[in-house]
Amino acid sequence: MTASIVVPTARRLVLGLVTLSLFVAMTAPRAFAQTDDSWRPQRGQTGKDVMWLPTPDELIHRLLEVARVGPDDLVFDLGAGDGKIAIAAARRHGARAVGIEYNPKLAAYAQRQVELAGVADRVSILHGDLFKTDFSKATVLTLYLLEELNQQLRPQLLRMRPGTRIVSNSFAMGDWEPDHVVRVGTQVGYYWMVPAQVAGHWLLEGLPGTQNPARLSLSQRYQRLAGSIEIDGRSAPLFAPSIDGARLEFRFVDSSDLLKTVRLQVSGNDLEGDIAPPHGMLENPPERYVVRGRRLR
Ligand SMILES: C[S@@+](CC[C@H](N)C(=O)[O-])C[C@H]1O[C@@H](n2cnc3c(N)ncnc32)[C@H](O)[C@@H]1O
Repeated sequence: MTASIVVPTARRLVLGLVTLSLFVAMTAPRAFAQTDDSWRPQRGQTGKDVMWLPTPDELIHRLLEVARVGPDDLVFDLGAGDGKIAIAAARRHGARAVGIEYNPKLAAYAQRQVELAGVADRVSILHGDLFKTDFSKATVLTLYLLEELNQQLRPQLLRMRPGTRIVSNSFAMGDWEPDHVVRVGTQVGYYWMVPAQVAGHWLLEGLPGTQNPARLSLSQRYQRLAGSIEIDGRSAPLFAPSIDGARLEFRFVDSSDLLKTVRLQVSGNDLEGDIAPPHGMLENPPERYVVRGRRLR
């Protein structure tokens, strides 16, 4: 990780004194050490890949709501600008937040805003390049970049923990369709949840009335799935297969012509969940059987 933490003003001073001799020896002090507290950002301020424009408050609130940000979340704002999204995530939703900002003056300004907002215990601003900074621990990502930058990030985003939520002001993600589109006045925002990667073949055990483990075959394009299930030599198409973070769900018609719903939690190469008639169709509550599965290599 190449980012450096923009330390709070008081600590910066102490740090500055302690390491004064080092600073003197340096040819170019790191930009985040600038202490011009009177500096204010202006719209259109240059960043590295995009300039600074702040997301309007209303849209921030909608996007953080749609992403269901809460106290357990670690929100990363990639390109933090004046820090307002990270601050809102902490203040309104109780989350921890990190803003990554390339422009050193903006990064220092954002850190001052964090301190003024009284959320420095939960929010920090990193001065660095979002493309070179590790944000893999984030549970929520916020973006206001450009569609092509979102697409550049996409492979990295898809490797994040299933269930990670991503929101973007104004810009989509190429052919990865959003799960929700948010509109606030003329503003548009997008929401995605990182899906578990489930494409391939799986063996499922525990389906009632079967002699052998069933073979589940899935194809996947982002959150869109298709597939079939083969049980004792009989193949059935999957109806409405879906992946919601790590939750996999599908339906199929079994050999008795009964519709069954399978709900599974994906954990790496393992599946665990249950099978039952669709809720409300038969007994209430329907009889459930535990199902376990593993990925076939
Ligand atoms: C459109 S502004 C959005 C600011 C803030 N996220 C918001 O929505 O209010 C984009 C920000 O990304 C910063 N930025 C551009 N390229 C960057 C990069 N490679 N790494 C980190 N920050 C970058 C810019 O300096 C700018 O502050």
